[in-house]
Amino acid sequence: MFCSKINLLNGCDDEPRGIQTAPLRLSLKWYDEVTSTNEVAKELMGDEVEEGTVVIAKQQTAGRGRYANEWFSPEGGLYFTVALRPRITVRHIPLLAIAVALAIADSIELSMLSTTQIKWPNDIYVSGKKVGGVLIDTSISGEKINYALAGIGVNVSRGGEEVSPLVRKRAIWLSDLVGCAPQPTELLTAILGSFTTWYQRLQVMDLNAIIDAFNRRSLLMGREIQAQTKDGIVSGKCTGISEQGALLLRNSNGDVLEVMEGTICSWS
Ligand code: BTN
Repeated sequence: MFCSKINLLNGCDDEPRGIQTAPLRLSLKWYDEVTSTNEVAKELMGDEVEEGTVVIAKQQTAGRGRYANEWFSPEGGLYFTVALRPRITVRHIPLLAIAVALAIADSIELSMLSTTQIKWPNDIYVSGKKVGGVLIDTSISGEKINYALAGIGVNVSRGGEEVSPLVRKRAIWLSDLVGCAPQPTELLTAILGSFTTWYQRLQVMDLNAIIDAFNRRSLLMGREIQAQTKDGIVSGKCTGISEQGALLLRNSNGDVLEVMEGTICSWS
């Protein structure tokens, strides 16, 4: 039986689960102001730009969140997009967002010494409020991933900008926390360093490492959840995530539901 070094990470089976890949080589492109770093990265991908290109902006005029939400992007925050050409299958793409979220959570926790959690699929939470998010844009032809753009936003400081009481209730900035918030560039360096490791794990399909780390950081683990999916609202107790990054919910009948795509309406 063929048993490569990488297969050993996942137990030894006949089918190699991953390929050996070179670590991500990063090349940084800085901008003062852009519409959205994901949009700038998309334009660069048209010119066949290399994997590992990072577009960073001090502020965005049309920052985007998931489901076409606006992403408030004043100077003082961290906004960047990493251009990737992942050598994984299309069904594993949700794990890319999870790998990015793990890198952000690890980096905030190390820089701030604040416990950091992830609300599935990729909202970063500190002190019960959202501090960062991930927006993945992909170009896929059939079973081929042409590219993926991992857009990352972290609320570092608002730079004096006011926000509504509703936003204050749900969101937090690192500068609001006790202690010294890192500079956006320090956090950028930490996130990119950590992401390189998580991305490598994804490429070699070290799924157990990703799933275990996510479940340890999960804000929803063990809680009663209601999630809005395209087929309606589903509810159950969160038991973790699947090998494809789906949220697993055990309902009152004991059945485990897999939520591949959706938003969390409530958790208790
Ligand atoms: C979310 O939580 O809904 C995702 C937020 C992602 C925001 C980042 S900021 C950098 C990149 N450019 C964008 O327009 N969006 C992402």
